[in-house]
Amino acid sequence: MRQMKIAVVEGDGIGKEVIPSALEVLDALTLDIEKVPVEIGYGKWKRTGRAMTEDDFDIFRSCDCILFGAITTPPDPEYRSVLVRIRKEFDLYANIRPIKGITNSRDIDFTIVRENTEGMYSGIEEVLPDAVHSTRVITRSGSERIAEYACSLATEKRLTIVHKANILKSCWLFREVCIDVADRHKVRWEEMLVDAAAHRLVLNPERFEVLVTTNLFGDILSDMSAALIGGLGVCASANIGADYALFEPVHGSAPDIAGRGLANPIAAILSLAMMLKWYGRIKESDAVTGAVSDVVSRGITTPDIGGRCSTTEVAGAISRAVGK
Ligand code: NAI
Ligand code: MG
Repeated sequence: MRQMKIAVVEGDGIGKEVIPSALEVLDALTLDIEKVPVEIGYGKWKRTGRAMTEDDFDIFRSCDCILFGAITTPPDPEYRSVLVRIRKEFDLYANIRPIKGITNSRDIDFTIVRENTEGMYSGIEEVLPDAVHSTRVITRSGSERIAEYACSLATEKRLTIVHKANILKSCWLFREVCIDVADRHKVRWEEMLVDAAAHRLVLNPERFEVLVTTNLFGDILSDMSAALIGGLGVCASANIGADYALFEPVHGSAPDIAGRGLANPIAAILSLAMMLKWYGRIKESDAVTGAVSDVVSRGITTPDIGGRCSTTEVAGAISRAVGK
């Protein structure tokens, strides 16, 4: 296998604590991976007036993927989100959120596959004097590729197609394409209106396996689902394109707890596990997720999920468990 090269963005706030934690776990696997640090974010913006430069982008292009911490949004109305720019540049069309219980005994284990480039976040907005029109764009090709991705995760599972096709014509197209793709791949599917899906996710999350949905619906349902399994500190995510990807904890830079050793490193460490899996390092990825479960079950956790340990204590325990 060719040497993997990853761009590493710690970012701001607790990004500077949880990404070094994830790298400690990566080092314990003793894989041949080149890590290229890239400084972007609020810290850089304060120093230079830019959160990210073209040179940073060139480094990203020279790597296979990005491991991303979190950045603080600069207080500037002209600021354009660097994450949105990265998603656009690399056409990272699939936003993946595994929701798997690690802190409680409930058997929650599903994945939300969210379309990441169009829908309500198409960026097409018309500001009139007394109204604003935000255009929801759903295309056949955009729906097709996200449905394909969801079906690749749902071969032995049930796919839930989440939409609002009873009201929105755009959702009708999304629904139709998803059903076609699922039938073509002989994936077992069901459909659910987004409001009903929200209700059932809260009442009976154990019944879900893989969900596929549009951008805004997926954004909301995935944050809601994070609350089912212990909150932001344990939720990982991936933004995946045809030949590039970015892996990041779901949480932000958490300035309220930054620098105090309180940040839960698990979300970042599970994002690393997703990266390894994406790269075909299945055994190592499983070793990381196994080590996280092991350490959590021994009660070695940060305060957000009920423990008394620090970021570095949890990361140290996970890297030792991985090394075994
Ligand atoms: P946040 O996710 O940073 O924090 C929300 C709450 O969850 C806070 O009380 C925080 O202490 C807690 N929390 C988050 N991660 C945690 C962890 N690993 N362990 C323990 N507790 C944790 O969201 P917030 O406060 O809305 O945003 C803070 C900054 O982060 C803002 O500037 C925001 O724009 C940015 N942000 C960046 C994201 C990214 O880079 N992908 C995503 C979300 C927010
Ligand atoms: Mg969100």
